[in-house]
Formats: sequence, C-alpha cells, structure tokens
Amino acid sequence: MEIIVRENAEIASKQAGKYIANKIRHANDIVLGLATGGTPVKMYNELVRQHKEEGLSFAKVSSFNLDEYIGLTGDHDQSYRYFMNDNLFNHVDIDKSKTRVPNGMAEDIPTECAAYEEDMKNAGGVALQVLGLGTDGHIGFNEPGSSLASRTRIKTLTKQTCEDNARFFNSIAEVPIHCITMGIGTIMEAEEIVLLAFGEGKADVIKEMVEGAISAECPATILQMHPNVKIFIDDAAAAKLTHLEYHKYVYNNKPAWQQF
Ligand code: PGA
Repeated sequence: MEIIVRENAEIASKQAGKYIANKIRHANDIVLGLATGGTPVKMYNELVRQHKEEGLSFAKVSSFNLDEYIGLTGDHDQSYRYFMNDNLFNHVDIDKSKTRVPNGMAEDIPTECAAYEEDMKNAGGVALQVLGLGTDGHIGFNEPGSSLASRTRIKTLTKQTCEDNARFFNSIAEVPIHCITMGIGTIMEAEEIVLLAFGEGKADVIKEMVEGAISAECPATILQMHPNVKIFIDDAAAAKLTHLEYHKYVYNNKPAWQQF
C-alpha cells in the first residue's frame, strides 16, 4: 500500500485526478472501475477540468461502476447512474454506451450480476479501480461480513451506511436498503487500485484498513493483499496512523523515476 497524505481533500483529489488522467493519456484503451459518494467528486472535477482545459480525452475509456441501489431508475437523482452522468460523463467525451453501472431495476438480479461480471471479463478486466471507503470499512457496498472472495451480487446495506447516505436523500426512510455491488473478489482483480478517503470521520477506518488484521469485519483490510494500491488521504483521515511520519517520509523521498 502506498499512503499519500496531503494537507486537504482538494489537494489530494487534484493529485489523484492527475494520476488517473495520466493513466488515461498513456493507455490506448483503458477500462476504469469507478466509484460514487461524496469522496470522489473533487477528483472527477479535476478530470473534467483536464478534459476542458488540457485536452484529456475519454474517447478510449470504458468504465464499470462499483455499485447501484436496487429500485432507483437511472434518472433518479440519487441513483449512481445519475451521479456518474452528472459528475463526469456529461462533461467529457466518453461514449456513454461504454459506461456501465449495474442496473438496479433489473427484474432478475442474479442474472444482471452474472452478466456484469461477464462483461467486465470480456472487456479485459479493470485496469484501474477507484474506491471510496465506508465508515464501516466497506469498499463498493461490501459491508462487514462480506466474503472476501465475493463476486457481483445483491447486498443489504447496514444501518450505518443508510445513516451515512441519508444526507443525500430527504430522509433515511428513502435510502434503499438493497444494492448491487461488485464483490471483494471482483475488486481485487483490478490491476491497480486508487482509494480516496477524507476527513476526521474516516480516521478510525483508515487506521483499521492499513494497520488492522485482514478480516471480513473490515472489508477494506483485504487491500493489504493487493500488490498495487495507492491511498490518497488528507491529514484529518491520516491522523490516527501509527506510522504516519514514515508514510510521509516515503512520499517525500521517492526516487525521481517513481514520482507522479
Ligand atoms: P462517501 O462514501 O464518499 O460518501 O464518504 C464512501 C463509501 O461509502 O464508499
């Protein structure tokens, strides 16, 4: 795990955006795994800015989103399809037919999930997966107790996640309790992972993810087993890390060839 600690969410998001933009620039075709939530918004803003001001093209990008609420249509303003259109796809030159978000309105959820996995495989797999981090340790919507080998499937959201996400709805009663999410096994197959987490509310779970024992109790701990993970966090989210000074020292002393 490479831990990149920056002063605030703006600076960390911009840097993560630049890193992802460079990956897009240097690839012929690239399959991105994308995330929603409050955390990645500023990173998407940077990608849009680079498209508008620096000629970054998404013409050769295809994407698979991590998850979607069951029961919300793509034009519901809290669906993750809507989020992606609103925060990224509508503002760049991506071919929307190459952007995938699980269909939360599918009549047959297991078939939808199996097809999603198959489509990812046929696309050659995810090259770079963006992740946020739930306060309960979820990645995607893989809540505590999820199998570390899980594939795309239905999940029931924890009360904690419903409470965390209620801020986006009129009330907690409106937050769907079911979703489709890529599994932890699915996420772990990405060639590279970029996780973002900001604010003091994420400090405990960041410590657990980086320093805790690998356990389905905190699904994000499985990322310790992935060979290529970058964690972009701000000072507030990093505050409880035992080896914080070391992580900063590593970052500040990167050999030139390793800098980005
Ligand atoms: P947030 O959610 O970005 O809204 O904090 C993170 C997550 O649930 O993955």
